[in-house]
Amino acid sequence: QLRAGRSRIMGLLVLDLGNPFFVDVARGAEQAAHAEGLNIITCNSGQRSDLEASYLAMFAEQRVRGVLLSPVATSGEALRAFRRSGTPYVFVDRKAPTSEASSVAVDDIAGGALAGRHLLETGHHRIAFVNGPAILAQCRDREQGVRSALTGSSAELTVLEAIGLDVTSGRDAGARLLGMSPRPTAVFCANDLLALGVLQAMVGAGVRVPDEMAIIGYDDIEFAGAAAVPLTSVRQPAQRLGRTAAELLLAETAETTAERQAVVFTPELVVRESTRVRR
Ligand code: RIB
Repeated sequence: QLRAGRSRIMGLLVLDLGNPFFVDVARGAEQAAHAEGLNIITCNSGQRSDLEASYLAMFAEQRVRGVLLSPVATSGEALRAFRRSGTPYVFVDRKAPTSEASSVAVDDIAGGALAGRHLLETGHHRIAFVNGPAILAQCRDREQGVRSALTGSSAELTVLEAIGLDVTSGRDAGARLLGMSPRPTAVFCANDLLALGVLQAMVGAGVRVPDEMAIIGYDDIEFAGAAAVPLTSVRQPAQRLGRTAAELLLAETAETTAERQAVVFTPELVVRESTRVRR
């Protein structure tokens, strides 16, 4: 029986394993874990709090070394019960709500502002923002960012809340955009999967991207650059997020006196065809 805390397993609980962003987070975490002889068990909450609770309980029962957590919500019984287990954890892709745990994330407010400023600079005045569920802090921050960038400009912003953060939700949002009159000339999406769905809807309706509808996504997953119209995106250093979170967890389980840290990365804009400057 391994002494408490000496397990060679690190848990990773992500929001949506169907999103390549989290696969890259897992890759980065694995690099750090393997370097210390640990393996990672990755679980997918699918944005469901009940699944999140059952996976957290399993990690606690298995007495894993610790858990990297991209939570659905940072309040609620699931996390409270998990905290009581005393299992070390680090938030990844989330700013920690308190100094209870270390966290690694990007500054999503800055990321949303980057997208808003880019669409202003490329000549757009009627802009839509397709957001994910407001329960996700990163979605709230991206909306705050794009709103702040447009404050004081003549641009008008329409916010559509998508059901999920996947391609299907993006296609639905694209259909709603097509029905708007007057139609926006640019759309910022809370992640690349939504943006790819919007792109699919525009191409299917014969709407030219970017000339009739510019599109910008978020994450800069590998498929963004490989899309039918290569996607401009606000890049998150996903592998670095995962690696840094795992390194923090390893440090905190080696030295319990290790300081809790809130690591915040600055996102960067990757400009591609889908927002090409208008002639
Ligand atoms: O899971 C939804 C989104 O939150 C991902 O696309 C990534 O942007 C994360 O921050």
